[in-house]
Amino acid sequence: MKPVNVGILGLGTVGGGTVNVLKRNAEEIARRAGRDIVVARASARDLGRSRICDTQGMALTTDPFEIVNDPDIDVIVELIGGCDLAKQLVLTAIANGKQVVTANKALIALHGNEVFAEASRKGVMVLFEAAVAGGIPIIKALREGLAGNRIQWLAGIINGTGNYILSEMRDKGRDFDDVLKEAQALGYAEADPSFDVEGIDAGHKLTILASIAFGIPLQFDKVYTEGISQITRLDVEYAEALGYRIKNLGIARKTETGIELRVHPTLIPKRRLIANVDGVMNAVLVCGDAVGPTLYYGAGAGADPTASAVVADLVDVVRAMTCDPENRVPHLAFQPDAIVDIPVLPVDRIETAYYLRLTAEDKPGVLADVTRILAAHHISIEALIQKEPAKGEIQVPVILLTQRTLEKEMNAAIADIEALATVSGKVARIRMETLG
Ligand code: NDP
Ligand code: HSE
Repeated sequence: MKPVNVGILGLGTVGGGTVNVLKRNAEEIARRAGRDIVVARASARDLGRSRICDTQGMALTTDPFEIVNDPDIDVIVELIGGCDLAKQLVLTAIANGKQVVTANKALIALHGNEVFAEASRKGVMVLFEAAVAGGIPIIKALREGLAGNRIQWLAGIINGTGNYILSEMRDKGRDFDDVLKEAQALGYAEADPSFDVEGIDAGHKLTILASIAFGIPLQFDKVYTEGISQITRLDVEYAEALGYRIKNLGIARKTETGIELRVHPTLIPKRRLIANVDGVMNAVLVCGDAVGPTLYYGAGAGADPTASAVVADLVDVVRAMTCDPENRVPHLAFQPDAIVDIPVLPVDRIETAYYLRLTAEDKPGVLADVTRILAAHHISIEALIQKEPAKGEIQVPVILLTQRTLEKEMNAAIADIEALATVSGKVARIRMETLG
């Protein structure tokens, strides 16, 4: 059978890894796909740059539009990243009737509704396994493996760079900026690393997961995002002492009033498997009504692991190219006319438990004031620890763990606590989940 001609846009970390895996495993891949998959053309900005892959046998160009407009190319693999150029290229490829594979979560989270509508109109596939959690086949698991379930919630460590930074800071006492630079050199970070650090990249991925889990439109603008840059060593240590780890989690939960979509640092019990996912590794916990909790683990970034997901999509595309488009797995797991716009809750209506750390004067009545405020806002305390004052200090750190409450109540309680004359500075607040 005639080989499938692939055009790869972008020969960086993921593009280079994809070429390497396709070459290294060509025989196994052809046995699975039923045809040879050949990278006929590829593009990059600077053709003089040294690459992690061998580009022999490919026609190279600096103009990716040449490739998406080439009638001899069957499948486009978009690995440039960003939204503007990538969207133009993907829509042009679709208009030209080509199949598309991408690792671009920003593109899917922000423009996926439009891209998939165009793809369905033209009867082509746009696959994006590599866009979430690197090498973990989480899209396939959710879209196909769990298709019999009503998904209740999912929670994941879905940014490798952020998890790498938190792990290195905790285990080796390393500096935030120093570890971030290393993650960039290893090819883990986004072109704009603030996306990794501020929870934006995880927000893109959560948008995609939630859409596939609940059959809702992609809506990144409704995701609450908070990064890891405010986490202090003190909180990491107190959390450990209390039996918790701090992980940056993306959480999507279906409740009776709507869907929670949030990315933020979270205290989770140390005994949970997911609390022990370190470095660039990712993990996603998915709870379905029939299956119960399931956990998916693997490398969340890097050349070969991400290429593993890109190539799996290529194999799927090749297998399904000749299928009737109506009989293919829908892009977002649910049939396009069955996607429902369930409301996404604003962050002040989410419900979770909290870790609070405040600095208070070490004198009688102060803790009573704090607990009275919490009670007035219907917040129950799970644990309260007052640390010893440092020598000569009259102020002490106080750590509180609360039971689940509405974020709105917690915001009001924190404002009242900060207004106490005996409490100085801001109250540090980290949300807490048991993931039971
Ligand atoms: P890189 O920066 O390593 O590679 C980007 C490639 O695109 C480079 O080859 C670059 O050319 C080319 N390129 C960039 N801008 C342009 C442009 N304006 N015109 C033409 N070509 C351009 O990125 P990654 O490989 O890390 O990421 C690619 C995609 O994969 C992104 O969407 C990213 O979010 C996603 N992703 C990345 C993962 C990772 O571990 N790195 C994991 C999962 C997804 P040149 O090399 O000449 O500069
Ligand atoms: N920058 C991303 C991360 C790449 O660190 O997780 C994988 O999507």
